[in-house]
Amino acid sequence: MDLSHKIQNRSATVGVIGLGYVGLPLALEFIKAGYCVIGVDTSRAKIKKLESKKSYITDISDEDLEQAFATGRLRVSQEHELLKEADSISICVPTPLRKTKEPDISFIVSATRKLSRVLRSQQLIVLESTTYPGTTEEVVLPELEKGGFKVGQDFYLAFSPERIDPGNPHFHLKNTPKIIGGHTEACTKMAVSLYSSIVDRVITVSSPKAAEMVKLLENTFRAVNIGLVNEMAIMADRLNLDVWEIIDAASTKPFGFMPFYPGPGLGGHCIPVDPHYLSWKLKTLNYTPRFIDLAEEINLRMPVLVVDKIAFALNRFKKAINGSKILILGVSYKKDVGDVRESPALDILELLQQRGAAIFYEDTYCPHLELHGKSHDSIALAYDRFCEFDCVAMITNHSYYDISKIVECAPIVVDCRNATKAIKNKTKIIKI
Ligand SMILES: NC(=O)c1ccc[n+]([C@@H]2O[C@H](COP(=O)([O-])OP(=O)(O)OC[C@H]3O[C@@H](n4cnc5c(N)ncnc54)[C@H](O)[C@@H]3O)[C@@H](O)[C@H]2O)c1
Repeated sequence: MDLSHKIQNRSATVGVIGLGYVGLPLALEFIKAGYCVIGVDTSRAKIKKLESKKSYITDISDEDLEQAFATGRLRVSQEHELLKEADSISICVPTPLRKTKEPDISFIVSATRKLSRVLRSQQLIVLESTTYPGTTEEVVLPELEKGGFKVGQDFYLAFSPERIDPGNPHFHLKNTPKIIGGHTEACTKMAVSLYSSIVDRVITVSSPKAAEMVKLLENTFRAVNIGLVNEMAIMADRLNLDVWEIIDAASTKPFGFMPFYPGPGLGGHCIPVDPHYLSWKLKTLNYTPRFIDLAEEINLRMPVLVVDKIAFALNRFKKAINGSKILILGVSYKKDVGDVRESPALDILELLQQRGAAIFYEDTYCPHLELHGKSHDSIALAYDRFCEFDCVAMITNHSYYDISKIVECAPIVVDCRNATKAIKNKTKIIKI
């Protein structure tokens, strides 16, 4: 039976390489659609957790894992060898930056090398990791063809960026349209046939490179607009204006305006990282993009602004950061998730510590935190003990926080997310 028939009657086996924030939900979506799934991850700890049906991702519950394994169609392993059995393989490995802010595609290279050893005729390979335009055809394709197979004839190759937004209650994998760009028409067709069985809408573009660029446009758009609104916050502050009031009023315009909101800085594996992939690629072509660097410069300044606001808040009580007890509420990079990668809260904690503060944090999603080799534990959330701190700073506005209790019990609150919007008496509140 050929691959398209196997996809149609769900007898195809789907492989997923990398079972993190992107790969694990994808694997479970394929299970829901009726496929057999082989998930491979190099992390022994993650495979062990999965085998004991314990989730390490906020959007996936232990019950979700139990249900997936109960179908008898999910296998997880550290061994790439198992992927010989797979008819299609989606690659969802990390794409971080090196210290020099250059792309680190070593995970893609390593996964592709391992894949090339198990590649067989009629397999569909889809790269989902966010990367610079050209990666699929310049890096993945030659490695896969080394064994003598020809793309478009012997195997299919496409790029399809993951657009998942962890913690988003409205949009998830199924109802977020999926972009697909195949190396040949046959490659695009095959990838469309697989992915349209798990998502409501699939959009095709002319090539893997175009699909890679779509993802970078989306994330650069966010980074630049957040940079713009963060600079608006800095300017509004100088003008003694409330930036949140300005944004709310501007948002009433029914056309030509889309609200973005300031915050303590960029976080997560995507927005602070991905634009650098684009920037790097363009620099190899003798073009230096300007918006990306400018937005980064402003976004990186935000943790310092937050620390300035904390100093300003303490000043009201004739106190200094040095020697003060400061509580940070929320350390993940966004609300209701446990992901602290690139989180500005880490920079804020570090800056406060360097200035002599006694730092504490509360985040139920991140019970433990490593800061420069030193481990910290989240305090228990007890509002009546907030009076023991000199200042409470709301960095991430998790839904479980009782804002009125925070404002009632803390001596002074620095609010980075406009969380205290509904509070009438603002005397204790300092916003960015
Ligand atoms: N997290 C997000 O919200 C998000 C959203 C859209 C796109 N992306 C992109 O998706 C990709 C994956 O991101 P993530 O957040 O899922 O990362 P992650 O770190 O959560 O997961 C990646 C997994 O890949 C595993 N891995 C690394 N090398 C491997 C290999 N050779 N073989 C098998 N497993 C390997 C790691 O152990 C890890 O578990 C990145 O390119 C990222 O930019 C992430």
